[in-house]
Amino acid sequence: LARGATVPDLAGRRVVVTAGGTREPLDPVRYLGNRSSGKQGYALARTAAGRGARVTLIEANTQLADPAGVDVVHIGTAIQLREAVLKAAADADVVVMAAAVADFRPSEYATGKIKKKDGQEPAPISLVRNPDILAELSADRPRADQVVVGFAAETDDVLANGREKLRRKGCDLLVVNEVGERRTFGAEENEAVVLAADGGETPVPYGPKEALADTVWDLVLQRLG
Ligand code: CTP
Ligand code: CA
Repeated sequence: LARGATVPDLAGRRVVVTAGGTREPLDPVRYLGNRSSGKQGYALARTAAGRGARVTLIEANTQLADPAGVDVVHIGTAIQLREAVLKAAADADVVVMAAAVADFRPSEYATGKIKKKDGQEPAPISLVRNPDILAELSADRPRADQVVVGFAAETDDVLANGREKLRRKGCDLLVVNEVGERRTFGAEENEAVVLAADGGETPVPYGPKEALADTVWDLVLQRLG
C-alpha cells in the first residue's frame, strides 16, 4: 500500500504496538536506559489506526504526544512493559514489539540516592536479566492465529544476526535495521529488511518511518486469517 492510503484494510483488527525504551532504576534519580526515540513505534500505531485498526500503544519513556484515536498505556521498566503487553495481547490479532527493552536491570534498587564517598572507588553495579517478552509471547500465544512481530537493531553482520534472532525469538516477522552513531536513533527516516519465519525477505529502502510501518502492516495482513 502506498503511504497515505486510507483503505481501512485493518478494520476490525486489534493491534498492540510497543514503543520507546525501558528505563531500569538504580535509585530515585538514576536509571539504565537506551537511545530509542519511540518514533518508529508511533509511526506503526498511527498508520494502523489510519488503516482502521483498534490500537493499543504501550509507551516507554518517549517525549512524544499521544496519537489521536489510539489507546495509550504509559510504562517505565521492562517488568512493567511485560505486564502491559501480556494484558493487552490477550485479545489482540497482532503484537508488534518495537520498543527497546533493557536486557538487564540493576539487581538492587537503592531507595535513597547513592552517594559518593571521599577516597572510595565507586561500587560496581550488579545486573540481572530482564524477561524476554517477545520470546515469551511468541512461544505462548494467547491466540493461535496471533501474528507477532519483533524489531532488531544491529551494528554488525546485520542480516546474519537478524536471521538467527528471528529463529531464536520464534516470532513471525523481524524488522532488522542497522544502527550506529549516526543512524536511526531519533531520526525521521529508516532503512530495514523485514525477515519472515517462512523465509521471506522484504527490503525497505531508506525513507519515512511511516513507509516502513505500512510495509510491516502489509506483511502482517498477508498472515492474518
Ligand atoms: N525484546 C523483548 N524483551 C527483551 C529484549 C528484547 O521483548 N528482554 C524484544 C524487542 O522489543 C525486539 C526484539 O526482542 O522486538 C529484539 O530485541 P534485541 O535487543 O535486538 O534482541 P536480544 O534478544 O535482546 O538480543 P541482543 O543480545 O542483540 O540485544
Ligand atoms: Ca537486547
